[in-house]
Amino acid sequence: DRKVLIAPSILSADFAELGAECRAVEAEGADWVHVDVMDGHFVPNLTFGAPVAKCIRPHIRTVMDVHLMIAPVDPLLEDFAKAGADYITAHVEAGPHIDRTLQAIRALGCKAGVALNPGTPAETIEYVLDRIDLILVMSVNPGFGGQSFIPAVVPKIEILRRMIGDRPIHIQVDGGVTPETAPLVTAAGANCLVAGSAVFKGGSVADPSAYGRNIRAI
Ligand code: DX5
Ligand code: ZN
Repeated sequence: DRKVLIAPSILSADFAELGAECRAVEAEGADWVHVDVMDGHFVPNLTFGAPVAKCIRPHIRTVMDVHLMIAPVDPLLEDFAKAGADYITAHVEAGPHIDRTLQAIRALGCKAGVALNPGTPAETIEYVLDRIDLILVMSVNPGFGGQSFIPAVVPKIEILRRMIGDRPIHIQVDGGVTPETAPLVTAAGANCLVAGSAVFKGGSVADPSAYGRNIRAI
């Protein structure tokens, strides 16, 4: 039995209170904190960049897990490493040279992740498995929190779990993760669940006890 890690996505937090929100979800049991960076180009929404990630870093004691939904991604990797990211995940669809991107992330001293959109086959990362520490399986089309889980990705998780063999690679699922969908993806082989709306709903930074109940429910 593998332990399942819960990584709340601060995309669903109060952006005026990001530091306090990070501390609150950690105090309520989060294993990692997931940081969604969107560029309004690779995805149809904008969030924030490395300067904001650097400011929230001191408020995270666990793992700062940075999900880059940006293209091109290579020019900004160093900024996120310097901001203190532990994991940096780039999309396989974000450019023609994912192998180079993954090498660059590790060369900066970070753990390297690769993300696959819902329509992207598992085979696209078959030849970079020795360069990665994490696979992020998108279970919604990236860009927004609060979307519905796409069940067609479940067999892809099973394929990836077989493909990685005994390599120490996390399989993370991101998008529409709820108490109802979480068992489907963990049964398929995922060991790290990102959840935004399902963690932050019903709570606030002033009274985060709902965050803890929501985390435990997943
Ligand atoms: C979506 C982001 C997710 C998002 C998930 O583009 O990558 O991390 O915050 O939000 P929920 O859990 O609400 O689907
Ligand atoms: Zn994400």
